[in-house]
Amino acid sequence: MKSMIVTGAGSGLGKELSLLLAKKNFHLILTGRKNSKLMAVKKEIEALGGNADILELDVSNEDDATRNINTLCKQFDVYGLINNAGVGHFGPIVELNSMEIKEMIETNVLGTIYLTRALLPHLNKGHIINIISTAGLRGKINESVYAASKFAVRGFTESLQKEYQGSGIKFTAVYMGGMDTPFWENTDHIKDPSRLRPAGEIAETIVNKMDEDSIIIESKKP
Ligand SMILES: NC(=O)c1ccc[n+]([C@@H]2O[C@H](COP(=O)([O-])OP(=O)(O)OC[C@H]3O[C@@H](n4cnc5c(N)ncnc54)[C@H](OP(=O)(O)O)[C@@H]3O)[C@@H](O)[C@H]2O)c1
Repeated sequence: MKSMIVTGAGSGLGKELSLLLAKKNFHLILTGRKNSKLMAVKKEIEALGGNADILELDVSNEDDATRNINTLCKQFDVYGLINNAGVGHFGPIVELNSMEIKEMIETNVLGTIYLTRALLPHLNKGHIINIISTAGLRGKINESVYAASKFAVRGFTESLQKEYQGSGIKFTAVYMGGMDTPFWENTDHIKDPSRLRPAGEIAETIVNKMDEDSIIIESKKP
């Protein structure tokens, strides 16, 4: 059974993608920082008749990320990776503190780079899907550093698509607008997240279009 590693699999889009991929007969390796959330997703997958393992992993920790990818590749037939873990801090640039800036760059950019670099030497054939955002397509007011982090992942993905052209390894960049997930819990940047698309709907589009180089899912007009 082929395995897919999903980062940030304990909630939101990562959870919904994991549930759908389990139904497509992938073994899921659910990763994130909080064991209890991963455990709950594993149980949901198993209740559907699927297969999953969990691994506590902070993607911003380079040594941890590299060591864990190496161990997982010895243990499982790893086919792919979904770099989904991400954080956002929003507001005027002069009001963002250093910790918020660092967290976005270390999680969204470096996390994606560390895991991808660690996995690639193990793959002959495979698929790496990078969850970006429409903030990786155009800048937005009060999203400067978040957009910078997502533009970085876009550049990373587009470059690897060229570097690995003709190999058995595929890269997909996913750009979506707002989703109703826990992502918005500690911010008032979005006034009413319940008006955003459910993560399950976005996950379904991604899984259906997984063979494409890039997937763009714009927000619904309010
Ligand atoms: N929600 C939106 O409107 C929206 C729109 C466009 C793009 N996105 C992107 O979609 C992706 C998923 O977000 P979501 O909306 O599903 O939000 P979410 O429910 O908050 O999911 C993000 C996940 O990332 C994990 N995470 C955060 N920092 C981590 C770290 N250092 N190491 C490992 N895991 C970490 C969190 O789990 P733990 O805290 O347990 O580790 C969480 O489960 C993100 O990349 C986000 O930027 C979201």
